[in-house]
Order: sequence, then C-alpha cells, then structure tokens
Amino acid sequence: MQEITRDVVIIGAGPAGLTAARRLTQAGKTVAVLEARDRVGGRTWSDTIDGAFFEIGGQWISPDQTAISGMAKELGLELFDRYREGDAVYIAPDGTRTEYSGVELPVEDSAQAGMEAARAELNRLAAEVDPAAPWDHPRAAEFDKISFEDWLREVTGTDIGRITTATFIAGGMLTKPAHTFSLLQALLMASSAGSFDNLLDDDFILDKRVIGGMQSVSIRMAEELGDDVLLNNPVRTLHWSDAGPGNPSQVTAVTDSVAVHARHAILAIPPNLYSRIQYVPALPRTQQIAHQHHSMGLVIKVHAAYDRPFWRDKGLSGTGFGPGHTVQEVYDNSNHGEERGTLVGFVVDVTAEAMWALPEEERKQTILRGLADYLGEEAMHPVAFYLSDWGAEEWTRGAYACSYDLGGLSRWGATQNLPVGPIFFASSDIQGIGYQHVDGAVRIGGDTAQRILEAESAPEQAPASEAVEA
Ligand code: FDA
Repeated sequence: MQEITRDVVIIGAGPAGLTAARRLTQAGKTVAVLEARDRVGGRTWSDTIDGAFFEIGGQWISPDQTAISGMAKELGLELFDRYREGDAVYIAPDGTRTEYSGVELPVEDSAQAGMEAARAELNRLAAEVDPAAPWDHPRAAEFDKISFEDWLREVTGTDIGRITTATFIAGGMLTKPAHTFSLLQALLMASSAGSFDNLLDDDFILDKRVIGGMQSVSIRMAEELGDDVLLNNPVRTLHWSDAGPGNPSQVTAVTDSVAVHARHAILAIPPNLYSRIQYVPALPRTQQIAHQHHSMGLVIKVHAAYDRPFWRDKGLSGTGFGPGHTVQEVYDNSNHGEERGTLVGFVVDVTAEAMWALPEEERKQTILRGLADYLGEEAMHPVAFYLSDWGAEEWTRGAYACSYDLGGLSRWGATQNLPVGPIFFASSDIQGIGYQHVDGAVRIGGDTAQRILEAESAPEQAPASEAVEA
C-alpha cells in the first residue's frame, strides 16, 4: 500500500472534483484526486465508436451557464452552436406528426389553456424559489408533499396538457416519472435554470457544445494536475477525525493500492454513491439517513451517425419532441466541422427500462424506428449507432443525475452541503445554479475549494459541529 500525504484529498475526477483540485493547487495547496474509473470526466465522456465521434454523457451549455463556458475558455477550449435551422417535429401522444417552428408546441387547442396555466404558475413559483435553498421557501414542505404529476393534473385539466408539460422536467430533466418526485423538486429544476420557460426553449437550454467534446474540459484539467490524479483507484474507506483545539482535522482515503492522508476530503461523487464508501467512524445519523433519499434517474442517450444530415434537405432542424413516444426528444448533434450528420435521441425512465428488456437487434430497430417517425426512413440506416448505458456503469448508476424522492428535498436538502468534520461534499446534484449540469459541477467544485481555503486560513479549523449533530 502506497502512503502519500497532501493538504486535500479529492474523491472523484469528474468536473466538480477536478475544478476543486485546480482551484486548490492554484492557491498553493497540494492535492491528490482519487478516481475509480480508468478515465477522468465522470458523466462527461466523449469517444469515437465505429468511426463516429459521440458525446456519451453531458454536452450542452446554455447561455446562463457561465461557470462552464468560463472554465472552457480558461482551458483554451472553444464552443460551437447547435444546428437549429428549419422546422421541428412534434409527435402527439396519439401518434399525429406535425412540423412546426418556434417554441410553442402544436398541441390541440383544448390542452393549450391548461398548459399555459401550468407554464405561468411554474414560472411564478420558480422565481420565488432560491435554487441554493429551495427548502427555505415558505411553502416548501407543502410543495414537497405533492407529486409533480398530481399538481399538473389539477392545473392543466387535460391528460395531454399534463403529459406534455411533465416531460420538460420529468423525462426531459430528472428522467423519472412525474409521480415519483415533488412539485418542489420540479421548481428547483426550473429555478436553477433561471425559469421554467428556459427549460421549454431548446434554443436556450441546448445552446452550445465544446469543440472536441465536453470531456476535454476534465481531460485538460487532469493534464495540468499530472500525477496528482490517480486513476483506477476507487475509494473504499474514509477514516476521519474532528478538529479540536490544537488538534487538526484529519482524513485518510484508502483505495486498494493507496492511502492518502490529508487535512480535508472532498467527496466529488454523485450522492447515490456516498454509501459505497465505508466511513470510519460512521457518518452522523442525519447524513446516514439523508443519503438514502437521493436516487438517479434513467435515460438512454441514443447516438446515430449518417453519411449526411439528410433531415436538413427536407427543411428540418433535426429537433423532435414526442411526449410518450419511444424517443421522447431528438436533436441534430452533428460535430463541429463534420460533413456527416449525427442525431441524438433520448429514451426516458420506464421506456428506457422497456428498451433494455428487448433483445439487442429488436431494441436497435425499435429505437431507429422512433427516430424515423420524426425525420423519415433514412434514419433507419445509420453508419454508426450507440446507446449510452449509464445505468450499467458501476461508478454512476443512472443518468442524468440524482434527485430526491417525494418529501426528501424539504426534509434533508439543507444538510446536503454541510461538511462533516473534514469531509466536504461537491457534486452537480447538490448544487443550486446549474443543478444537475456540468455548470453546477464547476460552480460547486470552485466554491468547495474556497470554503476549504477559508477553513485552512482560519486560526482554528472550522469545528465539525457545522455538521448536523449525530
Ligand atoms: P460526475 O459523476 O461527473 O463525476 C464523479 C466522479 O466520481 C466519476 O468520475 C466517478 O467515476 C467517480 N467516483 C465515484 N465513486 C467513486 C469512489 N468511490 N472513488 C473514487 N471515484 C469515484 N450536463 C450538462 O451540463 N449538459 C448536458 O447536456 C448534460 N447531458 C447529460 C447526458 C448524460 C447521458 C449524462 C449521464 C449526464 C448529462 N449531464 C449534462 C450531467 C453532467 O454530466 C453532470 O452534471 C456532471 O458530469 C456532474 O459532474 P460531477 O463532477 O458532479 O460528477
């Protein structure tokens, strides 16, 4: 067992952990980043499969996500616009296909009024919610008791209105059915993005991508950190002790081959994985309970590359939206400067489960048929095809991100950013602005580094009682 000593040990080399490491080393601290996988980037992962470059994980950046766009610039990376010329396609729950332009979906008139009422109310309430502390809203407990589905049923008045509005947050963001999470959780999602309207507007929310892939943000940060990033080192055990007068806090992160001794640890892993690590001593009661209430959603990200972007010849942008359809969303995901065309689609929550249950070839044909429903028969014949399977990844276990179960956010949310002695928590999934996004990972990585720098420069270390009492 190799023994090394650093100021701070960081667990997880995703964008949150690497940003924290970068900011700490820039401030003169020594770090070690322990990463379970054989690569950095976590849920951002770009790879070439059957000759086609695919963004297997997180990729899009919206104009308000200035932390990630700033970090990309700092690292010398450039952004490019998503292709969006031409009409989009809407497939109604009854299968009717309509080409349309603008943000407004061509939904039947009887559903429009209810959808508009829900939209207005979600915008109004989201503006009242602080994404960094949604549990502080005066009606937080009340909003956290109602499932998003039940609330939408009341407000929209029609099944089509309810199903269509739900998809922008349920399938589209949290990747869970709307009956499994609360109105408060939905409001957090909307407020973290600036408004519910921003989630409706794909030109906003899916605006830009990184040339060379989003993972290159993490790769560049890791290159600068060099040997301080240790791959293939899942942390199994975290020993920790509290600071006291004349007694600095201590932590030791142990993998199968390395033990890193440090004054602070940053747990930069998704909250659903906190319990994979053994803590010695055990974490306080509050954390042990709270950590059981986070879970990942489930989505299949579909990648299909074609000789050329055939949909553009038909005046189509490649954008498609179909509540209840096998492939709920589809977009032109062609890479910067490439002549061939690439589509990305999303198969969400229970539909994703149903697809994984099919034999491989049947799954492929069913999903391609889903793309063809939007854009035409040419979609059936890709030159490369790949399905991102994050649910099967041991060090993620779902996609896109973690959210609380019904009632969990108001009950446990306020504890999620409290350090426990020398252990700090940093993940996009416990961040306010940029929640569940790479932007949020960069923000919370930087903020956590800052909090540790402040704790280290304080005359006495911050007492562990900042954490909720055991
Ligand atoms: P992340 O999960 O990225 O990194 C955590 C790291 O910890 C991983 O490398 C993991 O291996 C490691 N780890 C876990 N347990 C460990 C242990 N015990 N020991 C050591 N290491 C351990 N976002 C966005 O902004 N735009 C988008 O378009 C999308 N789209 C999207 C699509 C898909 C399919 C996915 C899966 C995700 C997205 N996202 C996204 C979300 C985005 O990718 C996500 O918010 C960030 O990657 C989160 O960064 P973190 O660093 O917080 O965690």
